[in-house]
Parts: sequence; structure tokens; C-alpha cells
Amino acid sequence: MSKVPYHVAIVMDGNGRWATKRFLPRIAGHRQGVESLRRCVEACVERGVGVLTVFAFSSENWNRPSEEVSGLMELLALTLSGEVPRLHANGVRIHFVGDRVRLSQKVQAGLAQAEHTTAGNQRLVLNVCFNYGGRWDIAQAAQKLASRGEAITELSLDRAMALAHVPDPDLLIRTGGELRISNFLLWQVAYSELYFSDKLWPEFDEAALDEALAFFRTRERRFGQTSAQVGGHGVRHGMKVA
Ligand code: IPE
Ligand code: IPE
Ligand code: MG
Repeated sequence: MSKVPYHVAIVMDGNGRWATKRFLPRIAGHRQGVESLRRCVEACVERGVGVLTVFAFSSENWNRPSEEVSGLMELLALTLSGEVPRLHANGVRIHFVGDRVRLSQKVQAGLAQAEHTTAGNQRLVLNVCFNYGGRWDIAQAAQKLASRGEAITELSLDRAMALAHVPDPDLLIRTGGELRISNFLLWQVAYSELYFSDKLWPEFDEAALDEALAFFRTRERRFGQTSAQVGGHGVRHGMKVA
């Protein structure tokens, strides 16, 4: 069993601190974050990850200084036009996840175009969470069901969530040293393995990704069962003596 996580989710945190340490404006850190994301997507494709879901802008990030917010909107537009051809060539299918209503018409059109262009790709699904919040997601799913007069069950809610097109994340990575979820995938991380890295997102390179994947290989996933039921011996796989 290869034990490569099928779905990896990442809170890409630490861009601002990366820039501040270098006496650069915060937006320079976000620009470097795009470089890091490109590298990470390519490494995930090579390692056989099926789905990569990244947190790029949270519902709460609107509360940042207006020049940072507008810089991030501009960076999204630039990244869309600059990166989509390469992602497409690498067989990446892009989905944008989040509330698009507050985004400009130009950005909304760019998102739709990127999704359309890459719709037939099958090597990796890249979910970019932008203006996303876990609470927003649960509320919008419930609203959808209510408007259709459907019963609210775990299954119906799950199918109405913004990530219904992929299974739940197997591994959640957060860079930047904070040990919190910050309103990312609240519903979907119920059984994800959690990995926190002190590296700032622009510094998160292939070796750092491999460390996270190695951590994942050592975990025994029990989903509420006992170790014996899932074929283990009460110790982590990585520590077992053959
Ligand atoms: C994460 O980096 C990117 C976004 C939230 C858009 P930050 O901008 O939060 O970086 P720090 O946490 O201030 O270093
Ligand atoms: C989470 O990072 C959001 C993204 C990475 C897009 P934040 O930097 O916004 O999280 P907090 O504010 O430190 O919890
Ligand atoms: Mg942060």
C-alpha cells in the first residue's frame, strides 16, 4: 500500500511574515506564495496526490487593510492569466470554491474561464478556496436544502457542500506555525490527519511536502474503530517492527 494521501488540503499561512522578515511589503510575500503554490502543485502531481485543496483567501481576510485586500484581488487576476496555461498543460483541473458574489466581474469571468479550460483534465484536481469560510459553506449548504424543501441529513448536507465533488481531505497541512483551523474546512476535516509546519508558506518546498507525506504514512486511521479492527497492533504503522 503506497499510502499517498488522495486528498491534501493546505492552509497556506505565513506570507506576510516571510515578507516582513525581509523588509518587503506584505504583497511581496503573497507573490512568493504563488511561486510556492506552483511548486507544490507540480510536486503533488508527481507524487500521485489526486486532489489538492488550498486556502487562498478567507471570508475574514476582507478585514485586512484595504491595500492588502486589493493587492490580493489583483494577484488572483494576474495568477489566473499567468498560471492557467501551465496548469492545463500539467493535466490539472481547477475549481474555485467560495462565495464569488463579492468578487469583481472581471475576476469572476477569469475563474469561470479557468474552470472551463481545464474541465477535461484528470491528473490532479486543484480546489482554490477564495472568499471561503467553513461556516459559510455549512450555511450555504443548509440554505440550498431548505430552498429545495429537502430534509437536512448528514448525507444531504455533505452533497450540498462546496467540496461535494471530492472525498474529504486525508491530510490537512497548515504552514506558518499556528495551530488552528481559521474557519477552513470545518465539516470536511472530521477525520483528516493534521500536520502543522513552522515553515512559512513561501519556504514550503518539496522536501517540506515530503516530510508531511512521510508523517501521513505513519498514521493509523481508525475512524472510530479499534486498532485491531483496522489491522494494526496498537502502534503507529511507521513504528511497527516487521
Ligand atoms: C496567508 O499568509 C495568506 C493569506 C491569508 C491571504 P498571511 O498573509 O496570513 O501571512 P502572515 O500570517 O501574516 O505571516
Ligand atoms: C488563514 O490564514 C487563511 C488563509 C491562509 C487564506 P490567516 O492568516 O487569515 O489566519 P489567522 O487570522 O491567523 O487565524
Ligand atoms: Mg496568517
